[in-house]
Amino acid sequence: MLEAKPAIDYETADFYTDVALVDDPHAYFAFLRGKGPVTRLPYRNVMAVTGYEEMIQLALDTEHFSTINSVVGAMVELPFEVKGDDISAELEAARSKIAFSDQIVSQQGKRHSDLRSILARLFTPSRLRELEPKLRETADSLIDEFARDGKVELAEQYGGPYATLVIADLLGLPDRVRNRFRRLLEGAVPVKMDATPEEMMKNPLVELGKDLFKLIVKRRLAAHPLVKPIAGLFGAKHDILAEVATARFPDGGKPSLIDITGLSAFLFGAGQDTTNRLLCACMKVIATHPDVQQALRDDPSRIPDFIEETLRLDGAVKSGGRICQKSTTLGGVEVKAGTVMLMSPLAANRDPKRFEDPDQFKLDRPKIKEHVAFGRGAHTCIGAPLARREVTVSIERLLARMGNIRLSEAHHGAEGQRHFDYAPTYVLHALSSLHLEFDPV
Ligand code: HEM
Repeated sequence: MLEAKPAIDYETADFYTDVALVDDPHAYFAFLRGKGPVTRLPYRNVMAVTGYEEMIQLALDTEHFSTINSVVGAMVELPFEVKGDDISAELEAARSKIAFSDQIVSQQGKRHSDLRSILARLFTPSRLRELEPKLRETADSLIDEFARDGKVELAEQYGGPYATLVIADLLGLPDRVRNRFRRLLEGAVPVKMDATPEEMMKNPLVELGKDLFKLIVKRRLAAHPLVKPIAGLFGAKHDILAEVATARFPDGGKPSLIDITGLSAFLFGAGQDTTNRLLCACMKVIATHPDVQQALRDDPSRIPDFIEETLRLDGAVKSGGRICQKSTTLGGVEVKAGTVMLMSPLAANRDPKRFEDPDQFKLDRPKIKEHVAFGRGAHTCIGAPLARREVTVSIERLLARMGNIRLSEAHHGAEGQRHFDYAPTYVLHALSSLHLEFDPV
């Protein structure tokens, strides 16, 4: 008898370009993990890291692994021939030729800690406390827009604009700019797998970056010693953006205008789809598990644990990149300089060696915060405390204002025949849409 063939041939499927892998990355990662926690893929000189311990070791080992390809992963073309066991100097020399290597997440050493020190000012506990009333206000004003309809497409009508508006508030942007950014990013989708560099440049974040640049130039000008005494006359305020625009590195060095603009714009890239899609993943569980929905309604103090377990089970980041700069071993496997590492928080979080019944949702899982959905090491997500509060407040307000939340069967099928579409990207595990129905409260 002929054996039934799997619909996708995992042996040859290309993680970076094969859209067939997008809807269920977990099954593909389980297949790879079956070969070992660190395993070679049959293309582009890539090794996939699907083990929990191995992912942490990779993220912490900055001597042997570079973050220069953190954003582009294996879609990196080295402009030199790899020779020998140490390419760290050649890699650094080639930085300007590697796409997105100027972003904070791709930087290393002092340059990275300098840039991170500027952002750290935005994520202090007191700054987050100040933001708290705004989180609630923004949630309620967005819910007002659909509360009477009894239905909502959550990613576009709530999660996307919510994430944009919150980051605008984090930077203290004026209402006019806040609303323009909402319109700019409305309906934006994560960059597609097969996007050309020209398509990437059409990303609305480029437009948003130009606006931020102008605002930052104004703030810097207003702080200039010759202008400062009269800056108030033409309406200049010392707001949060001014604080960021005029911040110094820890050694007193002055960041360039491009540094500050890049950092501010990066927040919209890093904190937008990730937070939106985490909220969608959470609401998908709520809509499909009436017992979980009831438990959270009965005791909203369980919402933070619920979010941690959803981050572990279905976190938004599917892959990040590293590249081996000095030959070494990882998880007992030899890794040669020049090898690209597919680092997957999503896969590591389902490693059965670390998490019992890893594919099961367990609200009372012990040590529930030990997942790696926000990464590890020097580049651990700086926005994690904000993302956690954003999603907590959103779930609290959505539960309070939407009774009996359920999936739209017209869009996602009846029980037993459910289907969900995920965005065609190798970076994020991102629900394309989540159609919900509810009883208006
Ligand atoms: C559920 C939401 C989020 C998830 C799952 C997430 C995940 C991650 C991960 C895995 C990294 C590390 C990448 C690496 O090591 O290569 C990271 C870095 C980063 N994230 Fe997030 N993130 C989220 C939300 C946010 C938010 C809301 C912001 C800011 C508004 C943000 C800003 C950043 C920044 C600036 C970095 C780079 C940090 C550095 O290189 O030092 N993220 N994030």
